Amino acid sequence: MSESQVQNGFPQMKNDLILRAARGEVTERVPVWVMRQAGRYLPEFLKLKEDNNADFFKMVQTPELACELTLQPIRRFPLDAAIIFSDILVIPQAMGMIVHMIPGKGPVFPDPLREPSDLEKLKKDIDLVKSLGYVFSAITLTRQKLEGKVPLIGFSGAPWTLMCYMIEGESSKTFNKARKFLRQHLQISQQLLQQMTDLIIDYLVLQVQAGAQMLQVFESHAEAIGYDTFTVCSLPYLKQIVQKVKEKLGPDCVPMTIFAKGAHYAIKDLSQIGYDVVSLDWTVLPKEARAVAPNVTLQGNLDPACLYASHEEICQAVKKMLENFGTQRHIANLGHGMHPDHEPEKLATFIDTVHSYSEKMNAL
Ligand code: CP3
Repeated sequence: MSESQVQNGFPQMKNDLILRAARGEVTERVPVWVMRQAGRYLPEFLKLKEDNNADFFKMVQTPELACELTLQPIRRFPLDAAIIFSDILVIPQAMGMIVHMIPGKGPVFPDPLREPSDLEKLKKDIDLVKSLGYVFSAITLTRQKLEGKVPLIGFSGAPWTLMCYMIEGESSKTFNKARKFLRQHLQISQQLLQQMTDLIIDYLVLQVQAGAQMLQVFESHAEAIGYDTFTVCSLPYLKQIVQKVKEKLGPDCVPMTIFAKGAHYAIKDLSQIGYDVVSLDWTVLPKEARAVAPNVTLQGNLDPACLYASHEEICQAVKKMLENFGTQRHIANLGHGMHPDHEPEKLATFIDTVHSYSEKMNAL
């Protein structure tokens, strides 16, 4: 490859639309990707899983498989970003916790944290390169194999969301055990949240050094708490994460997105702590978010259930969404991830409509 075809040892970018939108630069059309764009709704995902007789974490831990799964949706759809195939629960695993992914049920921790003394079981002085080296290898390999087609997004769970799983031991509607632990053992909870924050900062920096070109932090269980609790157990840590990652990477820093699902009460706060992009779930009105967060790029936020509607209805819903956001400082996405029973053709309609209609709006 000639000098002009490589950037930092990686192939030259052919489409950097999402990076420009994240930085607030003018874009000729709205970039689009979707959470869980790799997954069970794709027949090629199910085939690879079956052919390799692979359980979920084996796929995550095998860089060649994680790379292939990351690339599958990019081959099928004209997406504007890839997201590395991995999971937020690799951080609790690096801390020494066992996590199984049970088909049809989700993550299960056979030995969750229930008492303050349980925290003593967690590993200290974790060598992330040793314990999560497979993520960094998958990122480097995927960045090469993408051949500059679209940018590669790295990610991490946020401390509160990870604490929810570590205490609850499985998915939950209310995460009541985690909320009880927080109330009864505030200081110990804050110690745990800080320990994870430090780890997540290093984890995200290492992902960028391995080749990630954008980062997303998932606070998926902000919906289990309200504003007052959020300012205690989430916001301060989300702020440290973005500020320290940017400080550590300096001029090599990449755009960062925060997705706090259910945190409609904190959009303004989230837009003021250093993230370039605030991702919205589908319950938020785009115009209201724009009014309280005028200086960041907004991501989202079509209701994933819209993809069960007809192609015509999807087109109408996407057009309405684009008109509400406007074509600048917007990254189109769903308000949460794809579901296993979504039809790939419906996602194609979503993506194609974002592209064609936002181009048309820009031409007006
Ligand atoms: O395509 C992508 O978005 C990248 C891969 C990705 C996965 N998980 C793969 C996955 C990403 C970014 C995640 C993040 C993640 N993981 C979150 C945050 C986003 C969100 O959904 O709020 C959370 C909460 C998790 C934890 C997790 N992983 C749960 C609760 C589940 C079970 C639910 C389900 O969909 O089955 C998973 C499993 C999981 N993570 C699958 C995939 C493709 C399904 C695995 C399978 O059964 O084959």
